[in-house]
Amino acid sequence: MARDVHDHSNGSLWKDRNVKSLISVAALVAILCHSLGAQEQVKLTRFTPGEVWPDTVGKPIQAHGGGVIVRGNTYYWYGEDRTVRSRTDVSCYRSTDLYNWKHEGVAFARDALPEDIRAATFIERPKAVYNAKTGKYVMWMHLEQWGYHFAQAGIAVGDRPGGPFTFVHHTRPVQYDFGYKDDDPDHQKEFGGTYRDMNLFVDDDGKAYALYASEGNWTLYIVRLNDEYTAPEMPMVEGKTWARVLVRRMREAPAPFKHGKRYHLITSGCTGWNPNPADYAVADSILGPWESKGNPCIGPEAELTFRSQSTCVLPVSGKLGCFIFMADRWTPRRLPDSRYIWLPFKIGPDGTFTIRWRDEWDLSSFDP
Ligand code: GAL
Repeated sequence: MARDVHDHSNGSLWKDRNVKSLISVAALVAILCHSLGAQEQVKLTRFTPGEVWPDTVGKPIQAHGGGVIVRGNTYYWYGEDRTVRSRTDVSCYRSTDLYNWKHEGVAFARDALPEDIRAATFIERPKAVYNAKTGKYVMWMHLEQWGYHFAQAGIAVGDRPGGPFTFVHHTRPVQYDFGYKDDDPDHQKEFGGTYRDMNLFVDDDGKAYALYASEGNWTLYIVRLNDEYTAPEMPMVEGKTWARVLVRRMREAPAPFKHGKRYHLITSGCTGWNPNPADYAVADSILGPWESKGNPCIGPEAELTFRSQSTCVLPVSGKLGCFIFMADRWTPRRLPDSRYIWLPFKIGPDGTFTIRWRDEWDLSSFDP
């Protein structure tokens, strides 16, 4: 009996051990599955403007004030990573379907700014383009400091879309002569060619342009760049290589695009982080004259651009006349939680377009 008991208890011990190890294996598998599950993001198949937009590992995308370029069948999205307070790195994401974005990493870190300005300077509205002549990616950004009087362009160059980009220089591309004395601090601060909200545009002929709010945001400047896209084309001649456009109209957040031979430019008013009505202008030449056509947004909250501010217009690959309006719905108190408003629009046969709100949509909405 004792032996039976012993045997029995032995068997039971054996079973117990097995059951225990089975339980631990199952627990391990469960933990693994759970953590894998947290990493494994559900594939997105639609846009949901204003909702949190997770990247391919489930982290909210950090690419505010950004822009998207396309290379081959891949889209690259650059923008402000605002997850670390008072720092803004330039992040890069990539996608082949526009819904699912993989974080490529920090394309340009604030730490890579020149030492003399590094501590005080942050980066806004970075944009990058590909230069077919040099085979390089060129990034322009608005460099700013407390008080928003630094107002300079930062230029960086990289060999790969995801970077790292190397800083080239910082500058105010145009020093428009208002006749103010050099030592006049206020006029020089505000009118000495200030460089704030910005974008880049590459025309069909390969010429690139920087578009930015200047003159203390009163007037937009459009400046043709040199062959490397790293500085203005020289010699600079107003009306030929650069132009003052939408003069004294106080427009910013420029989002240029081209359809056929016509240039279009969506802008916002200047009310800081708060939304205001968008405007779009058209021109037959990128340097103008630009004719304002009013607010392209229609429907509820159109007068606030659906509570957002333009940042870029993305031509949809392979779909002529189809574009995505990209805007930021800023949350000033929690900037990293600012949301993306992406809305589709088509240019009609008469060359006009409207943008209306959608809670959700997918690329099939471009189908005829
Ligand atoms: C907005 C601008 C943003 C940011 C903000 C700061 O006018 O579009 O990019 O600079 O002001 O208040």
